[in-house]
Amino acid sequence: SAADKGGWSSFMAKEISEEPEAVAKTIIGRVEDGLVRIPELEGLDADTLRDIDRVVVIACGTAAYAGMVGKYAIEQWARVPVDVELAHEFRYREPVLTERTLVVSISQSGETMDTLMAVKYAREQGARTLSICNTQGATIPRESDAVVYTHAGPEVAVASTKAFVAQITAMYLFGIQLGQVRGTLDDSRARGLVRELQAVPDKLASVLASGERIREMAKWMADTQSVLFLGRHVGYPVALEGALKLKELAYIHAEGFAAGELKHGPIALIEPGQIVFVIVPSPRDPNSLHAKVVSNIQEIRARGARVIAIAEQGDAAVLPHADEVIRIPLASPFFEPLLAVVPLHIFGMELAAAKGLDVDQPRNLAKSVTVE
Ligand code: G6P
Repeated sequence: SAADKGGWSSFMAKEISEEPEAVAKTIIGRVEDGLVRIPELEGLDADTLRDIDRVVVIACGTAAYAGMVGKYAIEQWARVPVDVELAHEFRYREPVLTERTLVVSISQSGETMDTLMAVKYAREQGARTLSICNTQGATIPRESDAVVYTHAGPEVAVASTKAFVAQITAMYLFGIQLGQVRGTLDDSRARGLVRELQAVPDKLASVLASGERIREMAKWMADTQSVLFLGRHVGYPVALEGALKLKELAYIHAEGFAAGELKHGPIALIEPGQIVFVIVPSPRDPNSLHAKVVSNIQEIRARGARVIAIAEQGDAAVLPHADEVIRIPLASPFFEPLLAVVPLHIFGMELAAAKGLDVDQPRNLAKSVTVE
């Protein structure tokens, strides 16, 4: 009913507005003296966390993209190799697992059949299992050694939004704790990361303010047949998520690419009028990916693409080359995806609305896929 939507036009509009809160609530109770201490990790004690030699993340859909973001962070902070696998691929190829492998499943519902079966398989093989889940008491957490709940609150719209930012938050908390335990993050660096994470909710609230402009953009794009998304590093899974939202909600062909892959194929798709969203890394990025992405923008612009850049406030280098710039607040590289994804969630929703579609109940999809 309209009352459940709290005055919003859809559950999705409400849930996107709750993204800052989803991050904030997932952090609460897990920081002590400026460092991460997740009480629920007790099922996996410090010795176990020090002993693991590999992390395998399994998930489906949006949750798998949250896993990809987590991979970049965990490898950087805890120096453990991380693989991310779609649950349905993982379980049918007899993956190599040992008792030193930690299998992290990510699932909003905790009931996705493919993910559940992959967790069961991992346990049978002797791997340790950690569940990141948004639904208290769901099946996947019950089948796992430990669970870190995301506290995004109930998500009703079929396509996931606020759960995604909460999943990344949980992966980051876990990655920081793993780094603390394994000695790869000293206290001052860990505290710096925690402070960055704690600053995300306020920054997200300011990103939500760009909603009106994105709605206007979605209106003039309502007839678009295809949209591409480019990103690098943690911006790459964000590009994939932006594309998935357009497929799910607006039923248009959309694809996300790693920007560095452009010259290996996708650039052939660029013709005049092609809309391309580009998630631009910060100019302050120590890997200096910013200049590379700006040059990607120039390349596609020269071929007639209409470029919508999602870029940090004050990044003037994108201005001469982009048709539209959506600004996000300053954040260090790992925290940008949490900010950059929000305009993409809003865009998917607004494009679907501009086409007169039901954003909460897209055709052919289910909130939780409990069959194989
Ligand atoms: C369905 C939903 C997606 C979700 C995926 C994984 O396909 O429509 O929004 O990302 O399942 O769901 P889970 O509950 O495991 O996160």
